[in-house]
Amino acid sequence: MKTPLGPANILFPVPAALIVSGSFDEPNIITISWIGITGSNPPSIGIHLDRSRYSLELIRKHKNFTVNIPSADLVEETDYCGLVSGKDRKKFEDTGLTPFKSTKIKAPMIKECPCNMECIVMKEVELNDSILIIGEVVETHIDRDKVDHKDKTKINISKVTPLAYCDATREYWTLGRRVGRVAASEKKIEARLKEEGNEQ
Ligand SMILES: Cc1cc2nc3c(=O)[nH]c(=O)nc-3n(C[C@H](O)[C@H](O)[C@H](O)COP(=O)(O)O)c2cc1C
Repeated sequence: MKTPLGPANILFPVPAALIVSGSFDEPNIITISWIGITGSNPPSIGIHLDRSRYSLELIRKHKNFTVNIPSADLVEETDYCGLVSGKDRKKFEDTGLTPFKSTKIKAPMIKECPCNMECIVMKEVELNDSILIIGEVVETHIDRDKVDHKDKTKINISKVTPLAYCDATREYWTLGRRVGRVAASEKKIEARLKEEGNEQ
C-alpha cells in the first residue's frame, strides 16, 4: 500500500551547496538545493535562483560563480546562508567562513568547504518560478586530506561527509555508508540468470 502525497517535489536527497558570487572584496554566499549536473562535455552545473535573490543580481553582473560543497560540520553556516540575504548582511563575516581566491574566475571559493568548482555562466533560462543559470565548470579543487590515499585525484567521500538536504522534511542529513560501486551489478545478475537458466 502507498499513500498519495499529491503533486509535490519529493526528490531527495539533494545537495545543500554554497554558491559564491561577486568579487573577492565583495563576495556573497547563497545556499542552493535546486542544483544539478547539466552536462559532462564541457562539465556544467545548473542552479535555480528565485528572481528576488541578491545572488542572481551578482551572477548576472559578473557572469561567474563558485559551487562549494559543505561538509556536515558546516550545517549551521549552510543554513544561515539560506536564511538571510546579501542585500542585508555580509555572510562571510557573519559565519566566519573564509573567501579563497579562485584560479580562473573573480568569484572566490569557500576555504572551509572541501570541494569547490569554478564556473563561468554559459546560459540563462527563464522558467515559471525561477531562473536556471547554467555554468561551465572551468576548474575544480579538493582539500588534499580528502582524497584517496592511493589515487590523489579521487575524492574520498567518507572524508568529505557531504551534507544532504531533504526538502520534503526540511532537514539536513549526512550520507550513510557505501553500499555499492557502479557497474558491479551486471556480472552478479548475469550469473544468477545463468543459474536459473534465464540467459538472454
Ligand atoms: C536548504 C536551503 C536550500 C535553498 N535552495 C534554494 C534554491 O535552490 N534556490 C533559491 O533561489 N533559493 C534557495 N534557498 C533560499 C536562499 O538561500 C535564501 O533566500 C538566501 O537568503 C538568498 O540569499 P541572497 O539574497 O544573498 O542571494 C534555499 C535555502 C535553504 C535553507
